[in-house]
Amino acid sequence: MKTLIVYYSNKGSNRYLAYKIAGALVCEMEEIKPRLNVFTLFLINIHLGIKSLKHNIEDFDTIILCGPIWMGRFIPPLRSFVNKYHESIRKLIFVTCCGSPYSKKDEKLGHGLVFKEVEKIMNDKCLFCQAFPVGLVLPDDQMEDPEAFMKTHLNNDNFKGEIQERLDGFIQKVKESAGP
Ligand SMILES: Cc1cc2nc3c(=O)[nH]c(=O)nc-3n(C[C@H](O)[C@H](O)[C@H](O)COP(=O)(O)O)c2cc1C
Repeated sequence: MKTLIVYYSNKGSNRYLAYKIAGALVCEMEEIKPRLNVFTLFLINIHLGIKSLKHNIEDFDTIILCGPIWMGRFIPPLRSFVNKYHESIRKLIFVTCCGSPYSKKDEKLGHGLVFKEVEKIMNDKCLFCQAFPVGLVLPDDQMEDPEAFMKTHLNNDNFKGEIQERLDGFIQKVKESAGP
């Protein structure tokens, strides 16, 4: 299975996660570059789409799309990517290093609602979605504390324990989704 990881990151956690996945799967990766990369404008839904990717999406069996969630939304750079390449994408896996913990995934700002949106847009092209809440790298009593997880970013020092186990499970699932 030929896989490409396409990612967008503002503060670095999703970039870090994308590199981890690319390292484990030994596959190529590319950053999504918005034409206008202004975070505050993204938050009010002002954006001008993305630059064309260097990779040819049609050359890949599976695209792993990786990026954050803001304000409970499928953010403009990621949305622009799926809109621009919808026809060329064969299979898509969406993965996010987000703030919302698993226990709050179905709340207003939870990743579960964004997953439903991605599944709706991609339909049967969406293999599955997976969240890596950044709180996984915090002590148990801070895991669901927004003040703590909003200040936390993935790095070589904190990427261990449960988040590493989740990544191992994710990699296994990606490999299995390739079929026999
Ligand atoms: C303005 C803002 C809004 C956010 N809103 C949400 C949200 O609604 N749901 C969520 O799960 N995480 C939310 N987060 C947390 C980010 O998804 C999380 O910090 C992510 O790891 C950032 O990724 P990055 O470091 O790759 O930019 C928000 C973060 C910011 C800065």
